[in-house]
Amino acid sequence: MSTGPLIVLVGPMGSGKSTVGALLAERLGAPYRDTDADIVAAEGREISDIFVEDGEEHFRALERAAVRAAVAEHTGVLALGGGAVLDAGTRELLAGRPVVYLSMDVEEAVRRVGLNTARPLLAVNPRRQWRELMEARRHLYTEVARVVVATDDRTPEEVAEAVLDAL
Ligand code: S3P
Repeated sequence: MSTGPLIVLVGPMGSGKSTVGALLAERLGAPYRDTDADIVAAEGREISDIFVEDGEEHFRALERAAVRAAVAEHTGVLALGGGAVLDAGTRELLAGRPVVYLSMDVEEAVRRVGLNTARPLLAVNPRRQWRELMEARRHLYTEVARVVVATDDRTPEEVAEAVLDAL
């Protein structure tokens, strides 16, 4: 595929998609884009409000549309929301793309994101929810990814380096 993003980052929230994505964009001299930010801009409201007001299914449809637009238009580094891979239509849009899965184990996720209730999916019992979330999603991240880069015990700079080495 000759056009489209140079790199697409997927992985759970807290895996460093935005930080690593911005670093990669800087290294490559390419623009950075984030579908969560696209959705917030288009909707004029926060993602947590979309979840509360319209539900997750509606959010996933907005996210699919945002991913469709971004893979068609964007030629730099693209980061997706942590749950984007849950949607089969979104996964199809990623076929053949240079997708990198930033992986992170459950204990690292609890350390990094912990009780951050601004992230709507982790409002109650974060450790159990993290475990369930990872179990439900791990195979989907792996399915869409061309390469997997582990982020545990690595700084964002080291992760960015590993992504460039892996692609
Ligand atoms: C979500 C992750 C968030 C955001 C939304 C849902 C998820 O993105 O899209 O809150 O389902 O894991 P980040 O991974 O950028 O935090």
